Amino acid sequence: MRPNNIRFPLALLLCCLFFQLAPSPNARGGDDSTATNPNDAQTQTGRTGTAENTQATSTTTGIGDSGKPELCYPTDSATLTKTFVKVYPNYFFRAFPVRNMVSHGSSDGNVIADQSTGDVHKLPGPYDPVPMGDDVITVPNSPMKFYSVKDVIEDKADPQPLFEDPDMTGNYQSVGILSHHGNVTRYRLTAGGNFKDYEVDTSGGKPKVTSVGTLTNMCGDLSLPMISKDGTELSGYDSTTQTTRIFKLDFANKKCTPILDLGMPTGKVDFSYDGNKLAFAAESTRGTTRTAFFTIPAANDNLNIYVYDRDRKKLSQVTHNVNSNSYYPNFKKDDSLVYINIDYGGSGQEQVSYVSANLDNTPSIPYEANCTECGQDQYNKALQAIGKLWYSVCTAGQLATDDIAQLVALNLDPEKCVDTVKNYWNQQKAQLAQPVTTALGTRDAAGRLNPADATLTENKLLAACPQAPRRQANPTIVGDGGVFAKPKNAEELMSRKCEVCHHDWPTNNPKEMLKLGVTILQRIENPDPNQRMPRGGQLNTDEIKMIRIYFEKLSQQQ
Ligand code: HEC
Repeated sequence: MRPNNIRFPLALLLCCLFFQLAPSPNARGGDDSTATNPNDAQTQTGRTGTAENTQATSTTTGIGDSGKPELCYPTDSATLTKTFVKVYPNYFFRAFPVRNMVSHGSSDGNVIADQSTGDVHKLPGPYDPVPMGDDVITVPNSPMKFYSVKDVIEDKADPQPLFEDPDMTGNYQSVGILSHHGNVTRYRLTAGGNFKDYEVDTSGGKPKVTSVGTLTNMCGDLSLPMISKDGTELSGYDSTTQTTRIFKLDFANKKCTPILDLGMPTGKVDFSYDGNKLAFAAESTRGTTRTAFFTIPAANDNLNIYVYDRDRKKLSQVTHNVNSNSYYPNFKKDDSLVYINIDYGGSGQEQVSYVSANLDNTPSIPYEANCTECGQDQYNKALQAIGKLWYSVCTAGQLATDDIAQLVALNLDPEKCVDTVKNYWNQQKAQLAQPVTTALGTRDAAGRLNPADATLTENKLLAACPQAPRRQANPTIVGDGGVFAKPKNAEELMSRKCEVCHHDWPTNNPKEMLKLGVTILQRIENPDPNQRMPRGGQLNTDEIKMIRIYFEKLSQQQ
């Protein structure tokens, strides 16, 4: 029953994805915030204010209908193209820099998929296929293997690696580009605290991969590490600060020096190619305990994509999910984003797509880490109150931190903002200021409304609502399908979410499975993300229940 078939090093711990935003004690707002509503001038220039902005967006074009009021579907401010997937992506998701392709693991193993048609090509390995430039793709685990992308997309039956590097262990690798001369590009690859440089020479047709320099191991205690595109910085979750930080890499002294603290924990950060923007998924809504970090998205988590602009010190929200998750954002070289989106229907289905987003003019808030005075003025407070109210109306009793609430309000269409305030503020403000215990935990100060803000009048809130119409940004939908049934029983659930790594579990031998039962239950309910399964993730309550019932039944049958 040992998972000896698993070749994951422990560095895989916490490798994955997501977690809640930590309760944030302070709003961060504005150098340029004033008591009047600055958002028209500041964030909405260049918008095409038209009358066609009332259509619901990507959140309602998916399967099912969550039965929420229309005001719960803000118009996305980015221009989106949604392509329905052909195979269900499970672990890690990367985009090629220029090539119109993405790569990920799936229940069918690793694939490269066409970003705009969803067509897939298989390549060896069960997880973490990561492009190194547009011509080579890496697949981890002793040894790290390097394949020709051309071989894969020409569907070669059994593509052989161009190169293998037994020194380079670890997975969830990420890649920076150090230099480019003619046909030769030098890359820096990192995985599990290991760093090594490689050259790819494309002059001879088939890419030639060589290893240059020696392996360096450092910064290994960071979770969710991702290297910047120029190979000189690393982002990661720092458990000492419980926030995501950016580190300068000092190879001579094997040191990682923190240079930027995002002030909140986030999912894996992707750097833009110029290094100025950081994209990440964050769960703005889950309960309030920090132990719920690093979760694989479950229905209703409403993971959203955010982008932080380092020069302008501004945070913007790309997606506005109500019954969906968006995660694993990747920058392409043209500064567009690609990410995975899952819409959850009421009908026991999930609809999965690759989304390409052009960010255009997404509204943003000034955002600086550790700013205690920011965001305290009435305009920002009013926005935060609107956002918290909107969360209360539109999600299943979930919570938003001050920052996220402010962003949500700023992203609402004017009329949806007005409807939210007029229909619900007087009715809900007192209740929102109460600490409340929900299925997701007790609302603490960060998630509930600050009691002082519950005294804000309806007119103050209305005055803070965005004035300019949203630009119309209904997604372009490519293909159909992308629909997968949610797992119907524990066997199906474990085959999708566990057996990627635990390949030879005796699933068709109930007696043997029962022996695993106690450890499995301990692991799936473990509050410690280092212990909890699935590795790097978390099952939702329904899924845990399904597995619990399965083992209870098994034990009664024995
Ligand atoms: C991404 C890979 C991955 C996935 C997915 C995954 N596991 Fe694991 N699992 C591991 C690794 C690696 C270990 C060994 C390290 C450890 O014990 O923490 C492990 C260990 C375990 C153990 C302890 C085994 C023993 O004999 O002590 C249990 C039980 C377990 N996993 C259950 C699950 C369940 C249930 C799921 C699905 C809900 C799951 N795992 C999904 C990687 C994974």
